[in-house]
Amino acid sequence: MSVAAAAGLEGVVATSSRLCYLDGERGVLAYCGHDIHDLAREATFEEVCYLLWHQRLPSRAELGDLQTELARARPLPEPVLRLMRSLPPGNLMDAVRTVVSALAHYDPDADDNSQTAAIRKAVRVTAQAGTVVATLGRLAAGRAPIDPDPVLGHAANFLYLLTGDRPEALAERAFDVALILHADHELNASTFAGRVAAATLTDLYSTVVAGVATLKGPLHGGANAEVMKLLESIGEDADDERVTTTITGMLGRKQKVPGFGHRVYRTEDPRATHLRQMSRDLGQQGGNSRWFEISQRIEEVMRTETGINANVDFYSASTYHALGIATDLFTPIFVVSRVSGWTAHALEQYANNRLIRPRAEYVGPDYPQSFVPLAERPPAFR
Ligand SMILES: CC(C)(COP(=O)(O)OP(=O)(O)OC[C@H]1O[C@@H](n2cnc3c(N)ncnc32)[C@H](O)[C@@H]1OP(=O)(O)O)[C@@H](O)C(=O)NCCC(=O)NCCS
Repeated sequence: MSVAAAAGLEGVVATSSRLCYLDGERGVLAYCGHDIHDLAREATFEEVCYLLWHQRLPSRAELGDLQTELARARPLPEPVLRLMRSLPPGNLMDAVRTVVSALAHYDPDADDNSQTAAIRKAVRVTAQAGTVVATLGRLAAGRAPIDPDPVLGHAANFLYLLTGDRPEALAERAFDVALILHADHELNASTFAGRVAAATLTDLYSTVVAGVATLKGPLHGGANAEVMKLLESIGEDADDERVTTTITGMLGRKQKVPGFGHRVYRTEDPRATHLRQMSRDLGQQGGNSRWFEISQRIEEVMRTETGINANVDFYSASTYHALGIATDLFTPIFVVSRVSGWTAHALEQYANNRLIRPRAEYVGPDYPQSFVPLAERPPAFR
């Protein structure tokens, strides 16, 4: 092949999709035509799930049915709870990957790839992902798991399962908006991985496992936890000068500052606008705005030194921290939301499938190489 590969597939249009409209020049993000700002202001995560799975907003009755189905699906099978208790301590994304994979064994539709069964599985795995992540968080903190409350919505249930307390209105809404903002983002790395898996006609759980595995990386979903580690390394008591020297030092060493930059956006990431506001509101309500203030200072330094904008992960960190969530859970929380997008993309892929199998530009040794038998190769043979 003579065509040169685009590094990181930058600018390559790899599929068509009705789900996510993304204009990186104007900073526009919309799910099925609905602007993210409208959804963040007006919708709930459950409405967004319906929107992504059915490509239209639900009626009141349809939303009620979905809420009932999600509530019914939230409790985890007992063997899955046992598995969670048996896992060694470590990166919680590894545990999420293992447990999501295990859930497939208990889904009655596991091997049914029809569109109706795939939607049922999308509902179940989305409902259960919240329970899995919150329960892993409790177990990691040495606390016993608790049962979901069927009366609570998805965001409130998650916070309840994690903390044991029903959340206050601001915390519930902030978490709901965070879930809405993370639900889908066109062909981001994990969604692309999931679509490649779906295009082989593998089952829905396998596509979600591909998504979880890909999201774990620090260049993708792992960045939100890296932001919190950066904030903590700077320290809550740090003055502006310390913030500036830390960031300029990183830039001088050519290190990436987590939570900044994006392959597509050339403006502010529209999701960061809402997360910045939430971080500010939650900090004020909790009487500690230091992480928000330090985040703002980092943003100023990055703007002055590089012109690079904050992305979705930057203010997620101080927002989740203000909600009392442990840093190890930040990336797993991304799963709680993005599972809706991964499953929506899998449904779309199944509905109009062709195997995804691109080509690679060959840059290896000239062809043909002569084959030297093993016995004749010197010790340092190349
Ligand atoms: C998101 C990301 C992977 C996009 O990568 P990309 O499109 O391949 O962009 P590149 O890594 O090629 O960066 C382009 C330039 O901007 C710089 N840059 C990009 N993100 C940067 C960051 N977070 N900190 C400092 N410099 C950054 C690069 O050093 C590069 O500069 P150069 O051209 O002088 O070498 C990248 O911005 C990044 O690693 N960000 C930090 C991790 C993160 O927040 N990920 C979550 C994304 S939602």
